[in-house]
Amino acid sequence: MTRRLGIVGGSGVYGIDGLQGGRWEEIETPWGAPSDAVLRGEVAGIDVVFLPRHGRGHVHAPGDLPYRANIAAMKMSGVTDLVSISAVGSFREEMAPGDVVIVDQFIDRTRDRPASFFGAGCVAHVSLARPVCPRLAGIAAAAAEAPGARVHRSGTYLAMEGPQFSTRAESRLYRDWGADVIGMTNMPEARLAREAEICYASIAMVTDYDAWHPGHDAVDVAAVLAVLKANGSRAQAAADALPARLGPAGPCPHGCDRALDHAVMTAPDRR
Ligand code: ADE
Repeated sequence: MTRRLGIVGGSGVYGIDGLQGGRWEEIETPWGAPSDAVLRGEVAGIDVVFLPRHGRGHVHAPGDLPYRANIAAMKMSGVTDLVSISAVGSFREEMAPGDVVIVDQFIDRTRDRPASFFGAGCVAHVSLARPVCPRLAGIAAAAAEAPGARVHRSGTYLAMEGPQFSTRAESRLYRDWGADVIGMTNMPEARLAREAEICYASIAMVTDYDAWHPGHDAVDVAAVLAVLKANGSRAQAAADALPARLGPAGPCPHGCDRALDHAVMTAPDRR
């Protein structure tokens, strides 16, 4: 199986600078339209499919994103490996604004977001014990290091509903729970990627210390945008460095591409 890279760009990442022959393509999925058209092209001779998570112009809020349509659009585009690039707040002193965290676990505090392709008529339970593909996460870490960013190769992402930022009490609680970073979009994206048998990894760009840090002002959009602007070229360089590292075709050594093999409960004659 040929590998094809998908990139979902969050706040501040609305295109891929190094993309050759890029063309925007509208896709309609059984779950409706994705956040925007997808941008298809090549980087280093590798097919890349890019989707701006919030749409060009940042028109979709985290709680209203068409998560299922976004993952379905990637699947229908032949994507085998999907990397998220998104802004996050930090719960750790050492994970400072400007740093990158390669997420390997999630705590999901989102609500009211359709979070599965399964349910009515076909019941399936995929494993999420390891929600991120270790092979793809390693590639994402190497790509993020290439432009000189300080990269933390492990971190737990707390997905919050938003759109408001956290209260100080919530921020302290999430720290105590062992979360390292906080964002509003990686869930249910990671769940759905697993159900779609797509390898998933997340490059989290730290923009702020959320609300817990006594020495820093509480987060606001201006602070997030300022850090994103200062580090935008690093995010672009990481995206450009990803495709060449994807490696040869073949099955995922961690089984992400076979996640449904033992997950469907509904009897074959009832599906
Ligand atoms: N995205 C960037 N910073 C954030 C924060 N502190 N909380 C939630 N999402 C964020």
